[in-house]
Amino acid sequence: MIGRICGTGSYIPKVAWDNNKLSEMVDTNDEWIQERTGVVRRHIASGEETTSYMAAEAAKAALADASLAPDEVDLILVATISPERIMPSTSCEVQKKIGAVNATCMDVNAACTGFIFALNTAQAFIGQGIYKNVVVIGAESLSNLVNWQERSTCILFGDGAGAAVVRAGETGHYAQVTYSAGNGGNVLTCSSRNQKQFEEQPKAAETYMQMDGREVFKFAVSKVPEVIRELLDREGMQPDEVKYFVLHQANERIVRSVAKRLKEDIGKFPVNMGEYGNTSSASIPILLDELNKKGELRAGEHVILAGFGAGLSYGASLIQW
Ligand code: UT7
Repeated sequence: MIGRICGTGSYIPKVAWDNNKLSEMVDTNDEWIQERTGVVRRHIASGEETTSYMAAEAAKAALADASLAPDEVDLILVATISPERIMPSTSCEVQKKIGAVNATCMDVNAACTGFIFALNTAQAFIGQGIYKNVVVIGAESLSNLVNWQERSTCILFGDGAGAAVVRAGETGHYAQVTYSAGNGGNVLTCSSRNQKQFEEQPKAAETYMQMDGREVFKFAVSKVPEVIRELLDREGMQPDEVKYFVLHQANERIVRSVAKRLKEDIGKFPVNMGEYGNTSSASIPILLDELNKKGELRAGEHVILAGFGAGLSYGASLIQW
């Protein structure tokens, strides 16, 4: 059995902060942010728009798109690094909110590669014949983890959620290559605020996202093309057989560099970080939902999804629409 995406959905917080608003908070400006990252604005979740709320709204939209009832869902996987509660899992909260009473639920923490890792997990369960209907979600309220006084990180990130319904079928094509590189993990970190060392200073810098941007940039532009090539080679495919490369939306310069290294037309690399910034595990499913809703994806077409992020982690999945 092979899982095929048969519905997508997303939820974007109502409030957006543009670069000019950030320039009132830290020493930065619209021109620098747009030129170095491609980000124009990002959406910021309100108190009610928690990670599980956004995840559930995205899941409801994806289920409607797939014409699947909540009680037909066997498994809910939520990729997130910014849950509002440590337990229960965000996926159990989603189950409650959408009424997926028959689902088994668990979360996946692989940061910006989270959606890819969760999609692989769905495929593994489907391939083994264990589950038939899986909802895979990427959801983040990174605005809670961002240090809004730190200009080198706060300009990049945003909040949102995206979801895909993956249904078991006899036909289709799915392949993946993933890696974790824990030895390099210190370049992108965020410590839990619930640790003894932070009892005295709960707002210590370590409890916000900390990033060596240049190192993450170098890692991304070398590893993402590498993993995409490995995936294509393994499947005996040429890049021109791929309709779109849906990359994690971290920085437009990273996307351009990957396209150049793969010697592929930049038009095959859709971007939307201008509107949402980097939403970590949510960025790939939000972009996939946009492409799906615009009618850009036709049955049988191949698409590559590729992500990278904290862990360090990286990977690519080949899907057939
Ligand atoms: O999802 C995965 C997570 N993260 C990423 O993918 C991030 C990958 N890295 C990046 O996107 C880029 O490294 C950044 C956008 C974070 C930074 O861009 P950069 O071109 O690597 O800038 P830089 O850190 O090399 O800094 C260049 C200059 C520095 O000034 P000096 O030393 O040249 O005088 C910085 O202090 O730009 C300065 N700078 C800023 N200036 C205005 C850094 N941040 C800002 C800012 N506004 N927000």
